[in-house]
Amino acid sequence: MIALRQLDHVCLRVADLDEAVARWTIQFGLTERRRQGNRAFLACGYEPYSLELLAEGEPGFDHQAFELGSGCSLEVAAAHLDRHGISHASRDGSLHLADADGFGLALVPYRSTDDRSTDDRWPDVARSTTVLPGFRPRKLGHTSVLAGDLAAQTAFYRDVLGMRITDRLADVGAWLHCNSDHHVIALVGQDNPHFHHLAFEVVDWGEIRVALDHLAQHGRWVSWGPLRHGLGRNLSAYIRIPEEELFVEIFADMEQLEPDHVPRDWPDDVHSSNVWGILPPRSYFRFDQAAVEAERTGLEARGEELPPADGIVLTAEMET
Ligand SMILES: [Fe+2]
Repeated sequence: MIALRQLDHVCLRVADLDEAVARWTIQFGLTERRRQGNRAFLACGYEPYSLELLAEGEPGFDHQAFELGSGCSLEVAAAHLDRHGISHASRDGSLHLADADGFGLALVPYRSTDDRSTDDRWPDVARSTTVLPGFRPRKLGHTSVLAGDLAAQTAFYRDVLGMRITDRLADVGAWLHCNSDHHVIALVGQDNPHFHHLAFEVVDWGEIRVALDHLAQHGRWVSWGPLRHGLGRNLSAYIRIPEEELFVEIFADMEQLEPDHVPRDWPDDVHSSNVWGILPPRSYFRFDQAAVEAERTGLEARGEELPPADGIVLTAEMET
């Protein structure tokens, strides 16, 4: 059996490593841990790292990695993938594979608490630092993917990666967990499969305000939010990142699950998505230039329709 402990990191391809490192560290409070050739490794708070930036190819999502659970070695995980007929490659001490829509995945070994210093085992506020900035997220908490084949993607993350379904949103979305956090990945059915967002956790509502004020001063805008999700319970705001064609969610107060959690079914309505009652603009599901520009200028709020994008049919109402 395979078991996951948590989301480990997301890797993004970037156009210019120096520019991207400066942007992600200054704007999102991340700390550069190290560089290796054309790669940089950035961390929230006390994480080893959770964002890998790679200066190679077209900018955008490259892969996301999950840490295996205690007792699940890379060999056990590889045998599990073999049983499911999933091809994989062993590289740099990790297993590399792709999900049902072809998005890159990696599985990294469990980091035993025995290998950590005493200080590393304490909660963040009890630890000491001389390098972390005043504003910083606590951790990379989850990701979300627009799934071209929602049923196949849900089955993949449940059966192949061993995640468990937390909630289903009618037949348009599935939220899955691997620990007590409500979700480690959210899948939303769309005709344009795309990595949608990575989500940084902050302490509370007040720190979301700090983040949004800070980001506004750097020319960023909130695409959707602030809001309170029904699914997940998280307080949340979504920031557009045109450079790497994705969103960053800043969130706090996510629902914590019991070990014997039973999957729930939610209606596809406004309340499930945002209990405060505002749905995202349609641009939220798109990454083309017309959608970004329309969102930046408030086109939809002004009553104008979003310009069409070739091959995209907007169906899902919800996201978390
Ligand atoms: Fe999210």
